[in-house]
Amino acid sequence: MSAVSEHPRVPGSIVALEAELAALEARQRAEAPVPGALVERETRRVRIPPGGELPGSSALLERYYGADFCPREKKPMVVDTRRSHGPFMVSVDDVPLAILDACSQIATLTHGFGHPTMVRALHAGRFDRCLWANPDTAVHHVPELAAYTEALLRLAPPALAHVSFVGAGGAEANEKALRLARLHVPPRADGQPRRRVLAFKDSFHGRTLATLAATWNPEKRAPFEFAGHEAVFCDATLPALERALASHGDEVYAVLVEPMMAEGGDVHLAREFLLGVCRLARAHGLPLIVDEVQTGFATGGPFFWWQRLGLGGDASTAPDLITCAKKAGVGVVLSRWPDPESNQVCVASALRGLIQLETAHEQGHVEALLRPRMDALCAEFPTLLSDPRVAGTTCAFDLPDAAAQNAFINQRYQRGFMTYPAGVRTIRFRFSASWEDRHLDDLFARVAEDLRRLRDEDALAWVPEGQLPEFDESVVVRAVDERDWPAIMAIEHDAYEPARRDSEPYLRSAAAVGLGLVACDADGGEILGFCFGGPIEHFRGVSGPDQDDRLGRNDSFYSADITVAAAARARGVGRTLKRAQALWAQERGFAYISGRNRVGATDAMAALNKSFGAFPVARLTHQYEGHAEADYYRIPLGAPPAPPPLPSKVLDFACGLQQPFGPAPAFMATRELVGPTVSRVNLSNYATLDLVHYSELLQKLAPRGTGHMYVTTSRDEMIDKSLRCLRLSRPQGQLAVGLEGGYVGHVTGAVRSLSDPRGFGRDLALFDWPRLPHPAGSGGAEAFVRALDELVARVGAAAILGLYAEVVGERSGLVLAGDGARAVAAACRRHDIPLVLVETASGGYRAAAGAWGVDTLPAEVVPDAVLWYPGGQIGHIFVGDRYYIKKPLVLISTWDGDELSAIRTHEHLRAARKLDLAAAAAALDASLTAAFAGLPGARLGGLGLYRTITLADADAAEAVYQACLHHGLQLGRGLPDTLIAAPALDAGPLLGAALRDMLAAALPDTAEHQP
Ligand SMILES: Cc1ncc(COP(=O)(O)O)c(C=O)c1O
Repeated sequence: MSAVSEHPRVPGSIVALEAELAALEARQRAEAPVPGALVERETRRVRIPPGGELPGSSALLERYYGADFCPREKKPMVVDTRRSHGPFMVSVDDVPLAILDACSQIATLTHGFGHPTMVRALHAGRFDRCLWANPDTAVHHVPELAAYTEALLRLAPPALAHVSFVGAGGAEANEKALRLARLHVPPRADGQPRRRVLAFKDSFHGRTLATLAATWNPEKRAPFEFAGHEAVFCDATLPALERALASHGDEVYAVLVEPMMAEGGDVHLAREFLLGVCRLARAHGLPLIVDEVQTGFATGGPFFWWQRLGLGGDASTAPDLITCAKKAGVGVVLSRWPDPESNQVCVASALRGLIQLETAHEQGHVEALLRPRMDALCAEFPTLLSDPRVAGTTCAFDLPDAAAQNAFINQRYQRGFMTYPAGVRTIRFRFSASWEDRHLDDLFARVAEDLRRLRDEDALAWVPEGQLPEFDESVVVRAVDERDWPAIMAIEHDAYEPARRDSEPYLRSAAAVGLGLVACDADGGEILGFCFGGPIEHFRGVSGPDQDDRLGRNDSFYSADITVAAAARARGVGRTLKRAQALWAQERGFAYISGRNRVGATDAMAALNKSFGAFPVARLTHQYEGHAEADYYRIPLGAPPAPPPLPSKVLDFACGLQQPFGPAPAFMATRELVGPTVSRVNLSNYATLDLVHYSELLQKLAPRGTGHMYVTTSRDEMIDKSLRCLRLSRPQGQLAVGLEGGYVGHVTGAVRSLSDPRGFGRDLALFDWPRLPHPAGSGGAEAFVRALDELVARVGAAAILGLYAEVVGERSGLVLAGDGARAVAAACRRHDIPLVLVETASGGYRAAAGAWGVDTLPAEVVPDAVLWYPGGQIGHIFVGDRYYIKKPLVLISTWDGDELSAIRTHEHLRAARKLDLAAAAAALDASLTAAFAGLPGARLGGLGLYRTITLADADAAEAVYQACLHHGLQLGRGLPDTLIAAPALDAGPLLGAALRDMLAAALPDTAEHQP
């Protein structure tokens, strides 16, 4: 309770909550993974616990779901990203479920779990600028995005010269592509807007409103369609397309097609058809969007599936736009046209995408491994399997009917693998670069067993597997002793060909400067194996260490030799030795262990090293006195180093929402981030311990009027999903209502239709939705109420999905408060229209009066939903009982957030709670008031630590913006005449005299621009 004494203003109930939150934090910190701890990953085998029981996962999932806090999404387990590796997905349980993920997290991973190049990049500092906080990509030049753009353009069809990134996944990428297409489609002869997309039967383009409209499956699509915006669907044949274009071509603004219709059943479209689509779209002047969300990034061999079909090599066969997501880490749009609107994205996710791009070609070996196995499977089940298709990392087959498909899928966990159904009778697989022969042999045997047991009633029973004890208790490890040498050299002699044998003097010298261990049988004392190594500086003459860029830093331990006697195999001797070696080196402050594995000769040892987190550093040639090759690897023994401090003299008030604690908050060092960064999990299908912890906190913080939550991947997806959520309870809903000056995002069609278009490119809205006067505007609350009454009289309340109002206008600074808020809430209640409060500029304690801006409103203002985008790749929809949709799998997308973003936001909430934000807000207010009071036409807006300065016009705003920047203060931009002051929440000490002096110096420079 000691922290509470720092807050003399907090009332009693908050004191009690504070105690609860402090206790929760203490409990969670004790349970959380420790940065840099030695973790052993699963690299060898499927493991199935007795009875399929996962008590650890089950207990955590209960904590995640809470008392109906969020829908029970049928998550089968809590995934341990730290122990998962390559194709092996491992649960957190003490006796875990470890299965082969044969769908690579719905085709989002190019290398399965623990992508080795990504681990290396993390330790080499490549994530330094984006791991602990997310740079605001709408404010600053971000080198990671520039590099990603360049890399994508090198691979794209030459006609596509522009790249845009968007926050969430495939749906949002398609929405952005639709926005660009609509901007560039020729106008209709009759001047009417084009509102429809042309899409194909069996298509899937996402679950946001405009992409759902273009998704074939009527079950998914129909509940969310909007009159006049229904897609034109046609069969995937050229005559059908010609007919559709002839009858509806002038209503359509884009043609949207997947080159391989994945969700629709892995339908491989023919080159001739797609070429025809390209030509017909062009003949009708319609932009063609190729949806490569699931097929890009070398999923089909070449980088784009379009290229697999031999298309895109010249302008005539290039589409106008290509979209990617999944393996891209963020939404990507490659386009013939530039994007007039910049977007905020999660840079760490973009960098993960860039690394997957750079290594995408490593998936190239998979197709050749799949073909013979698929042939053999079809030969074994000639009547059951039909239409086998293999391409790149994908393969699929059809079963006779949906019942067989179900029976196959229902046994997948019992059989030890994960995959998904598609279409009505297809089973499809997505592999990654991490799959080797041994994994595929294992998987295909399991698939065959599944097929054999389609009608077996006992197939759902669990058969324990892989439960051998990890270690043989009769193996003990001790330091090498003088008497051991004859046995050591005998084992060395037996194990290796002469070129690879180490001499006794070499091993003795390693033991002298470093470590020599032997593993012995506890009973007989006989030597079963040994390991030797020491600082790499001792091995300067050895191939590998001689080129190690860490040579001379005294932080790396070279594992010179680790050998197990042939007779002692399968007793875990190598693992026992490796663990002892790693712990010894870790205790002595080494940051890495490095070593060599001869390529092709030491698979077991390489797998063992990988299980301790080894990543490759270099491929060594001319090894072992001949033509052999070896992999020089490195095992990190600690967390990646902390990012170096940024040498910035600028006070950044533009990025507060993306970086609530600045560019590198030190508290992030307390969190283990390697697992969540290098192994991105589909949170729609699984949970992780970090997500469970975060959910527990949010359960305690849920804003007034709410008690349930959905997670989203971005700001736009948050708004879009909330509209879908409301639509399910208001099936007649046709429009949503925004406020003048309002901003809720600008990517998806629905969200663009809610935001005030001032400052954006033309035709921002897709839907013709109204915006009403803001109660804080010149007409006051009366103008709002009058406008709402008129709207209801015109369209009926049932047609309105909800009123979307920001507590603090992110671009306008207009604040919903006091009587204005009362009037809005009362009018919504009177018409029975849902009140949706958007808290992006006020949530997460920024309003400085509690966790949420809604805490500043009169008690009778009770929202139906509260939406909060805290930055990065996550968003939250809090909703009350009335509009909560409990049914699982209805309001999901591939990702449903991002674990790394969740961890950061969790820490922000923990840290913000402990600050005296009211004092900081008062200091900010005093400084801004003092500086701008004398400036003609200037008006302060906003609340707490989100303040706005509205100037006489856009030119005056630009002058102030530039003058402040010149004097070291970076303001943000809102509406064209409005600037933003959103400092880091812990900027308190800078908000008084330091800020006043800066502003006093800057503002005289703007005098000539003032009216
Ligand atoms: C072809 C295609 N487009 C779009 C999407 C939607 O992507 P997301 O779930 O990331 O929004 C998917 C997802 O499976 C897809 O396969």
